[in-house]
Amino acid sequence: MHDRSQLASLLRCPACGGGAPARAGDAWQCPACATRFPEFDGVPWLFAAPEAALAEWRQRLHALLADLAREAVGLRAALERPALGVAARNRLKLQAAALEDHARRLVALLAPIGAEQGMATPEMYRALGTRIPGAQGLASYYVNLHRDWVWGAEENAAGLAALVAALGSAAPRRVLVLGAGAGRLVYDLQQRLRPALMVALDINPLYAFVARRIFDGERVSLYEFPIAPRDAESHAILRMLAAERPLDGGVEFVLADASHAPFAPGSFDAVITPWLIDIIDEDLASFAPRVNALLEPGGRWVNTGSLAFAQADPALRYTLEEVVDLVATSGFARPETSEQRIPYMCSPASRHGRVEAVVTFTAIKQCEAAPPTPHEQLPEWLVRTDLPVPALAAFQSDALTMRIYGYLATLIDGRNSIAEMARVVVSERLMTADAAEAAILGFVRRLYEDSRRRVHY
Ligand SMILES: C[S@@+](CC[C@H](N)C(=O)[O-])C[C@H]1O[C@@H](n2cnc3c(N)ncnc32)[C@H](O)[C@@H]1O
Repeated sequence: MHDRSQLASLLRCPACGGGAPARAGDAWQCPACATRFPEFDGVPWLFAAPEAALAEWRQRLHALLADLAREAVGLRAALERPALGVAARNRLKLQAAALEDHARRLVALLAPIGAEQGMATPEMYRALGTRIPGAQGLASYYVNLHRDWVWGAEENAAGLAALVAALGSAAPRRVLVLGAGAGRLVYDLQQRLRPALMVALDINPLYAFVARRIFDGERVSLYEFPIAPRDAESHAILRMLAAERPLDGGVEFVLADASHAPFAPGSFDAVITPWLIDIIDEDLASFAPRVNALLEPGGRWVNTGSLAFAQADPALRYTLEEVVDLVATSGFARPETSEQRIPYMCSPASRHGRVEAVVTFTAIKQCEAAPPTPHEQLPEWLVRTDLPVPALAAFQSDALTMRIYGYLATLIDGRNSIAEMARVVVSERLMTADAAEAAILGFVRRLYEDSRRRVHY
């Protein structure tokens, strides 16, 4: 087993913020609050609420598996259509078989987190949803795996060059990469800079498990499903993901939330955020002070990627000028920015591909920022499953909405027309006659469109 003392010396408990988690058998444990953090496939699981995060990622995997199974059934049903051409038949067969095999491969890769524990029906998963930042699905950035380890040499090199230029001539000693994804940038940076320690942190176990294996010299076979396949075979391509050579140590993988990074203040002299600040589920105004806190005085924050802020609140979708101002008011010297146009996700198997104007900046830590907002603690009734859940006004309103939704769905019984359903709703005094028919039409249409929406895996 490799020496974990460097990593251990930097850890700070993400649950209580007080103790320094230390090795305890095959896991880690905080001496202050006694929270136990498991380790899976050599990767410490350092979420603030480790059990809840585990349940959520399992649930996400199961929901994805349920979608894959549904999609495969749809493909096989399409095969039964009369007068289907030979080419279409072959394509559908290839896709169905690939999806089924893909599901098996995901289960094998995610076996360390108990992939097959506690399955429910697809409807149950859709109804429940999960609460790891909503946008972060298990396969949200799946194509990155193939870009990083199969066909993305030009894109990877361009991204690396921008970062190396931004880091400047002084080689960092302890580097933290937040949102490390499929890991190629970490691998290339480690080979190029040889810091004493490089920590690759991501929230998604699939990427950490695959990247760790590849770093160790393993080959991992996974399907690519291009957005705009060039030909029939390109609809699902089984690819071999591998590095040119194994990495001889120096990198630690950590599964955690970058908004609650499990490290003591001042742990790193460089923090890198590649393609993260605009997709993370936190306002940059509070995320920037968190990055500041992780750096030692004079440390560097190097950011690169798009600025397509995904926040629901329009006030938080910042321009580059606003980003620079926010960074400069978070304990950093005003950063210099540069912009490069680089190819992005140009798979040779796809007719789809982009060119992105990527923004890179380096910000030097000048002073401590005003402390970031403290970690938001989950209420006790969400941590302990034996306590009553309070009937919050928001919950009651949601429950009413769902009851109405459920009631309307029961009116779809194979006999009622939209006009008849509208009459029922009016007779139940749920709606006025002038509005009912259009509303029911909209509702049924939405259900229909949702049922035909393509699953993204
Ligand atoms: C757009 S991808 C970029 C991946 C990689 N940095 C690259 O450049 O290819 C964003 C990555 O951030 C990760 N991520 C999103 N939210 C995160 C969070 N709160 N904490 C840690 N990682 C997060 C995702 O799992 C994903 O791997």
